[in-house]
Amino acid sequence: MNGTPEPRVPGPGPRPFPIAVLASGRGSNLAALIDAREAGRLPVDIVLVAGDRADAPALRNASAHGIPALALDPKSFPDRRSFDRALLARVAASGARLVVLAGYMRIIDAAVVADWAGRMINIHPSLLPKYRGLHTHRRALAAGDLEHGTSVHFVSAELDGGPVIAQARIEVRRDDTEDALAARLLLQEHRLLVACVDAIARGQVRECNGSVLLDDAAICAPLRLDPSGHLVAA
Ligand code: GRF
Repeated sequence: MNGTPEPRVPGPGPRPFPIAVLASGRGSNLAALIDAREAGRLPVDIVLVAGDRADAPALRNASAHGIPALALDPKSFPDRRSFDRALLARVAASGARLVVLAGYMRIIDAAVVADWAGRMINIHPSLLPKYRGLHTHRRALAAGDLEHGTSVHFVSAELDGGPVIAQARIEVRRDDTEDALAARLLLQEHRLLVACVDAIARGQVRECNGSVLLDDAAICAPLRLDPSGHLVAA
């Protein structure tokens, strides 16, 4: 020690990647992202959690973790596009470079989606392209599927129709109910979403002209999760 103060130089190492999460309800996928972030397993900064319902548990949880939370009321806007533009303007102002739809229950206007092409992902509880839309577990059971799963995809103007990044699969049991199947799948949703956000944050996965690239090469089938929670080619 010579008494001279050390200059404050930013340390080396990756900067956290800023993301925003849109959520309308329970927020267990958001909680998985927060947990992974807090455990040092996800190099992101969740700069905003936003949605359409001020009473959503997801927004309350964000606030409890010191994450800025914002709800806009769709009824205060003349139409869907103006609501979506206002909400996504706040997201842009937050500095987020990726928007994660995690149980966000509104369809986003196509023009607004286009502004975020390649920078907006969604988690959906089915093996897309099967069962776009609602009640996916019920539909998988009604069809007698032996396998069910979840997909993370880049968002396009088509509902649940954008390029799929990765999927996780589970077996359907003979005695499964809709609730039991949903609960078992939810655990895989959490792992899959964390892995996809991690891969995007680290620049390993990106979208280009409607294709998903892994390490700069287009994938020909959705990636899958290996047992350690990393994405690998199918
Ligand atoms: C999840 O099943 C997700 O796949 C779907 O909506 C549900 C949201 O759950 N898009 P949560 O709010 O993250 O708990």
